[in-house]
Amino acid sequence: MNAIFKRKSIRKYLNKSVDKETLIHLCYAAMQAPSAHNTRPWQFLVIDDVNMISKVSTFSPYATFAKQAPALIIVLLDKNKVSDKHTKWVQDLSAATQNILLELVDTGLGGCWLGLYPDEKRMENVSSMCNLPPHIVPFSVISLGYPETEYHNVDKKDAHLIHFNSLTD
Ligand SMILES: Cc1cc2nc3c(=O)[nH]c(=O)nc-3n(C[C@H](O)[C@H](O)[C@H](O)COP(=O)(O)O)c2cc1C
Repeated sequence: MNAIFKRKSIRKYLNKSVDKETLIHLCYAAMQAPSAHNTRPWQFLVIDDVNMISKVSTFSPYATFAKQAPALIIVLLDKNKVSDKHTKWVQDLSAATQNILLELVDTGLGGCWLGLYPDEKRMENVSSMCNLPPHIVPFSVISLGYPETEYHNVDKKDAHLIHFNSLTD
């Protein structure tokens, strides 16, 4: 199974830290993502301090399990890298986030995309918890770590959703 077919959200992690080199590698994987006009409007905030992990995992009611994660990666928009005409940064940062989720599988790790943008309250929470400057917009949080249990295959394939040449076939 390759990473795309193996990937699933992992929300329970072993009590084992993830080394800095691996965390940097995951950010490099994100940077390989496609971006409109090759803008690459991202920055990455890696959180591996226990107190900061506890704090950030309270940004959303659906992120509390992330308190047990050994690390978080916050994918950020750098507004200085986009003009008002560049309206495709959501796609850019989504692709970067997905790259991290896929690379986690190939590095023996697992993680979960935690919804942040466009929920204003959650964005405000993360900005203030992490002291982000005004030109940096938090987009997604990924909790990550070594999976507590083995990956098992979840088959989502549905041939009915595929159409050749026309939707009326
Ligand atoms: C934009 C986005 C936001 C998400 N937010 C959360 C979240 O806040 N908490 C959570 O536990 N999972 C979150 N997820 C993960 C989804 O629940 C998960 O991808 C979905 O249930 C499918 O399961 P799978 O990832 O195992 O295939 C989010 C996923 C996406 C794409």
